[in-house]
Amino acid sequence: MDTTQSPENTLETLLEHARQAAQHAYAPYSGFRVGAALQLTSGEIITGTNVENVSYGLTICAERTALVRAVAEFGPAIRIAAVAVANLNEAASPPCGACRQMLAEFVLPEAPVVFPTTDGVRVMPFHEVLPLAFEMRLK
Ligand code: THU
Repeated sequence: MDTTQSPENTLETLLEHARQAAQHAYAPYSGFRVGAALQLTSGEIITGTNVENVSYGLTICAERTALVRAVAEFGPAIRIAAVAVANLNEAASPPCGACRQMLAEFVLPEAPVVFPTTDGVRVMPFHEVLPLAFEMRLK
């Protein structure tokens, strides 16, 4: 990866990976084609798309597809340094609650999350996207 890029360019590159990934979406039921790209602290970029199912409820979102790919390929010690989400429907698509909670397990609190809103693309640190993630602290 080109480390001479500015942070903005890096996020634009990540967003482009998310857009490309959305081309592979399997979304025959909703027609909503989503792509996600995760940048690991190691620099690797892993993408995912939504994969729907006729049962509807078994559908997996683009963000979680990318997350499980990342863990499967690079192992449980991965850390996510940046997240990008895109869709081919020119619609808003912030990560859903389930995806936020899944990402929380591996993402750095300050990691930028880039996603389309009705007012254009927005960037927020992960801790603002999910301020109160569920944690399990047994006494
Ligand atoms: N979807 C995602 O891929 N990511 C999200 O964060 C929310 C929703 C997908 C799931 C389904 O295939 C379609 O968008 C409509 O909900």
